[in-house]
Amino acid sequence: MMVGRSFLPLSLALALLALLAPAAHAQLPQRDVAAGRAEHARMLKSLGIDKPLRPGVSYNKAAPRIVNYDEAKAGPFSLLPDPLSFPDGRPVADAEAWWKLRRPQIVEAYASEEHGRVPRHAPKITWRVVKETHAVRAGVPVIEKRLAGQADNSRAPSIKVSLDLLVVTPEAKTGAPLILEFGFPDGSPWGRPAPAGPDWRDLVIARGWGYAILDPTSVQADDPAKLNQGIIGLANRGKPRRPDDWGALRAWAWGASRALDYFETDPAIDPKRVGIEGLSRYGKGALLAMAYEPRLAVGLIASSGEGGAKLHRRRRGEQVENLAAEGEHHWMAGNFLKYAGPLTADDLPVDAHELIALVAPRPLFISVGNDEADAWCDPRGMFMAAVAAGPVYRLLGAKDLGATTFPAPLTLIADGDLAFRQHEGGHTPGPNWPSFLDFAARYLEPGKK
Ligand code: GCU
Repeated sequence: MMVGRSFLPLSLALALLALLAPAAHAQLPQRDVAAGRAEHARMLKSLGIDKPLRPGVSYNKAAPRIVNYDEAKAGPFSLLPDPLSFPDGRPVADAEAWWKLRRPQIVEAYASEEHGRVPRHAPKITWRVVKETHAVRAGVPVIEKRLAGQADNSRAPSIKVSLDLLVVTPEAKTGAPLILEFGFPDGSPWGRPAPAGPDWRDLVIARGWGYAILDPTSVQADDPAKLNQGIIGLANRGKPRRPDDWGALRAWAWGASRALDYFETDPAIDPKRVGIEGLSRYGKGALLAMAYEPRLAVGLIASSGEGGAKLHRRRRGEQVENLAAEGEHHWMAGNFLKYAGPLTADDLPVDAHELIALVAPRPLFISVGNDEADAWCDPRGMFMAAVAAGPVYRLLGAKDLGATTFPAPLTLIADGDLAFRQHEGGHTPGPNWPSFLDFAARYLEPGKK
């Protein structure tokens, strides 16, 4: 979340908002910071780490580590792991070797060290429509459905989880393409963002598509103190996480899969033509959803940064140590904390180009704001990751980015199945929506000009 040109830790930002905001914001969740800290300490102990972790970087000049924005100091880093080499150095010769052998190795490295594992018997979700209304959006009559996805809690009845999903589809159509956003079904609690281009929902409806908004926090709270609740807590029957249990990003991505299960039952939607979009922490979540859910057809990954499309090994903008700190560690598996203590980013068995490669050959649009206002995300680090995912796209018969030089802002690179655009705004997908929807239309409405 950004205020002015610097990033605030979520807890501080929420506290500030609580002070500034009118009653409408009163429902913003407050974190129990001490409980989050205790959970972090518990995980460190279960990893056998008895020294403090290296601190994250900060824009605050008084902090122990100041964020680096100087490109000359962004490296060097050790070579990126090669997605197309087996651990013993043998090359991945063909698509079959990728799908059968190499891709599962990368998925396993992510499950063990970064995102954690989805439990084998994750709770079943039962969807029901709680409200249905007729409205007009962008001049198009639409049906708005609010759905609740109730998690089976028979194994831990005190933990209740209900996924919150809004689905809006053109009334006159069946089998429409749909864009799913990780966001706020009732609109952003931070108020409308500064006008940065047209409202994406209008753009989507005007194309005759539908849109849906899933609230990720209804799957799993964005709060380290609440890992014994939500879908993670329910699956663990309220017990604390093990080091390779799933983190919030993996749980949010799992929530997108459950939304897809619903789309498959709704005749208004063509479940084979669903795209996903998310910003920032929800951009990271949307990238994981694309990586793990093959039914998703296309993704817009906005300002996802560290833990998203940015290379961990780049010493620019946010760092591994920030993700591993108290306030963000719940996004990740517990094992990830090791890389801000006894190990470093260079020891990670995988890097962001391989997360992008897990999406291949499906189309992915990587979006970011200008290099100054959105520098925390390290735009160049995301571009480099997209370039380094290219060989996997090519192996699978798809087209890579088609560029290797970091482009000037506003340059659209979208000739292949990977796309990149740095707009001139800040930490928002806003100005990139029209380019993304044109890109998505190539896949969602292939026959249409
Ligand atoms: C913080 C965090 C980022 C995250 C962002 C957001 O700035 O460090 O990793 O993307 O919040 O979600 O707004």
